[in-house]
Amino acid sequence: MRSERTVLVTGGAGFIGSNFVRFVLRERSEWSVVNYDALTYAGNLENLRDVENDPRYLFIHGDIRDRDAMIDALRGCDTVVHFAAESHVDRSITDSSPFISTNVTGTQVLLDACRAVGGIDRFVHIGTDEVYGELPLDDPSALFTEQTPLQPNSPYSVSKTASDMLVLAYHHTYDFPVVVTRCSNNFGPYQFPEKVIPLFVTNLIDGVKVPLYGDGQNVRDWLHVLDHCEAILTVLEGGKAGEVYNVGGNNERSNLELTHSILELLDCGHEMIQPVPDRLGHDRRYAIDASKIKRELGWQPTRSAWPGALQQTIEWYRANESWWRPLKEGQAVAAKAG
Ligand SMILES: NC(=O)c1ccc[n+]([C@@H]2O[C@H](COP(=O)([O-])OP(=O)(O)OC[C@H]3O[C@@H](n4cnc5c(N)ncnc54)[C@H](O)[C@@H]3O)[C@@H](O)[C@H]2O)c1
Repeated sequence: MRSERTVLVTGGAGFIGSNFVRFVLRERSEWSVVNYDALTYAGNLENLRDVENDPRYLFIHGDIRDRDAMIDALRGCDTVVHFAAESHVDRSITDSSPFISTNVTGTQVLLDACRAVGGIDRFVHIGTDEVYGELPLDDPSALFTEQTPLQPNSPYSVSKTASDMLVLAYHHTYDFPVVVTRCSNNFGPYQFPEKVIPLFVTNLIDGVKVPLYGDGQNVRDWLHVLDHCEAILTVLEGGKAGEVYNVGGNNERSNLELTHSILELLDCGHEMIQPVPDRLGHDRRYAIDASKIKRELGWQPTRSAWPGALQQTIEWYRANESWWRPLKEGQAVAAKAG
């Protein structure tokens, strides 16, 4: 039987990509998924063990910067969802070169490969709210809309802004059928334990203090990864080519509030907080106005409400130590070697 859609997912072995692959296989029984991933430190096939024997799923080990391999993988696909990226701001501050190489050049190679192969009728580019820069802490009513000027501040967000602009330029120039999503911070299962929630939870399970940046007042909007997956599927099916859609959870927390919630849910005291010098150039606040995707496409977050969603996520890390333990040990070895 021919699939209704054959979706090539780049970066499908990472945190959001693997949740999306599983979500699509479950929600769209007639679709097939090709997961194309370079398996960097952040890519992990363990994330998808439960679907690896599904006849509608295929994994291809490849780099988005490899044009010939990209062209081979794209043959027979009609849809692309582009997650593959270097995604950790702290790493971009230490060394921005892989960020420019994968996020900018890799996106350009992917777009050109799509044009060379032809037949792609939908290209969803996964962007971030960090392209808008930062909002002031003293004006809670200020939110990022799709019209907010782009003002990225970190090497990571600059590389993501450049990739957004490239994708939109391919629509303007070649009428290539792209849509761009810009999402706030995700949380949920299978997040690499360098990001704040899995890092703090796994540290506390091990009785290790949690490193809190600066005064802890930086604010982020938190969205459950499956709400994000649903938004991506909604935009894939109903979004208008050439448009940008903000995606957010309406769930703003300061890092200090987030830390206190995690400590409380794990029965730990405030003495487990280890203040550390602030991240260089740390943006103060991100907050999303997601009214466009809600109004035009009917999407709503339904899984992000706190503290329940945070508690469920903590329970997942408690129950899946065999998933995160090797990743954490691998990081410790890499840090010593470095
Ligand atoms: N995590 C968040 O909160 C968040 C929020 C908004 C947007 N995003 C965006 O969503 C996307 C996915 O984020 P994530 O948190 O899942 O990232 P991640 O770091 O967990 O996963 C990235 C994946 O991309 C793969 N990859 C990296 N370089 C590659 C290359 N050159 N070729 C092929 N594959 C490569 C990795 O192996 C990994 O599987 C990124 O584009 C990120 O910018 C993330």
